[in-house]
Amino acid sequence: MSYAIRAEGLVKRYGDMVALDGVDLEVPAGKVIGVLGPNGAGKTTTVRILSTLLRPDAGRATVGGHDVVRDPVRVRRLIGLTGQYASVDEDLSGTENLVLLGRLLDLPKRDAKARAARLLEQFSLTEAADRPLSTFSGGMRRRLDLAASLVGRPQVLYLDEPTTGLDPHARGEVWDVVRSLVDDGSTVLLTTQYLEEADQLADSITVFDRGRVVAEGRPGELKRRVGGQILLARPSLPQDVPRVAAMLTELTGTTPVQDGVNGLLTVPADDPLLVSALARRLAADGIGTDEMGLRLPSLDEVFLALTGHPATTDDEKNDDTTAERTAA
Ligand SMILES: Nc1ncnc2c1ncn2[C@@H]1O[C@H](COP(=O)(O)OP(=O)(O)O)[C@@H](O)[C@H]1O
Ligand SMILES: [Mg+2]
Repeated sequence: MSYAIRAEGLVKRYGDMVALDGVDLEVPAGKVIGVLGPNGAGKTTTVRILSTLLRPDAGRATVGGHDVVRDPVRVRRLIGLTGQYASVDEDLSGTENLVLLGRLLDLPKRDAKARAARLLEQFSLTEAADRPLSTFSGGMRRRLDLAASLVGRPQVLYLDEPTTGLDPHARGEVWDVVRSLVDDGSTVLLTTQYLEEADQLADSITVFDRGRVVAEGRPGELKRRVGGQILLARPSLPQDVPRVAAMLTELTGTTPVQDGVNGLLTVPADDPLLVSALARRLAADGIGTDEMGLRLPSLDEVFLALTGHPATTDDEKNDDTTAERTAA
């Protein structure tokens, strides 16, 4: 198999803080790998090493067969990175931004214009092409950012949390764009804090926690380890909680997790029919609920299942933008 990205034993320390603690990654050419992990897990540090912006303290990595430390110039020719090279200008229009980037990449003016027009069309931005960026919505900006990273026709594209902070609609738009890239044969490394995003887009998922790879596999494999979805019920009356907990145990074979404060019961569940089964039992026993249904597992639940500890604790939360600025 031909690998677009290979990393072995990557270590990165910031003073006493170990940001990467021996990370291995292999991304086959033409595939999308999702790097899933909470804030501070080491996703951006990995992307920065793989884009030659940061030197690892130990380990090695190649992109397209070129070593990121010994041969950074050749690596840079192969890659695109959202939000970094795409230093888009607020006062310029979409077209002007992309043409400028093309010119910076030494494209002749005509080619730069043609490339800009093609990308704007591909990302459904043609109508907004002549408007200054300051009038763009959040989703449009991310799409332009993606378009900007593609001006140089990268073989390998890094998308570092491309949808964090977007509303569900804008997120869906970015997902569509990523799917079309993959159809074009690019290799994509996508980092995300959302299981659903990795699930929608990635061929395989690598889960990061505290600078280490803690799990990897196809989305379906990882989800099966948590159970496909989460069945939940919140009895209207607190005294019904034990009975409903018993019903959930009986239906799923697993003891539900109980939120002591609001009486919400949750349990991994593979079968959508369990909702109606639960509804029938509740009705038969005359038990009312304030909430009842199925939802996708949260990153916290995936984490809990994979690592035995929650994804986020208050003291682990850190400000991503500050970290990026200091590293730059
Ligand atoms: N420039 C830096 N200086 C000090 N610590 C940093 C720097 N960049 C990142 N870190 C720390 O390294 C860890 C991994 O950060 P990062 O790779 O940004 O994680 P992620 O992108 O998964 O949120 C975090 O604990 C973060 O605070
Ligand atoms: Mg990050």
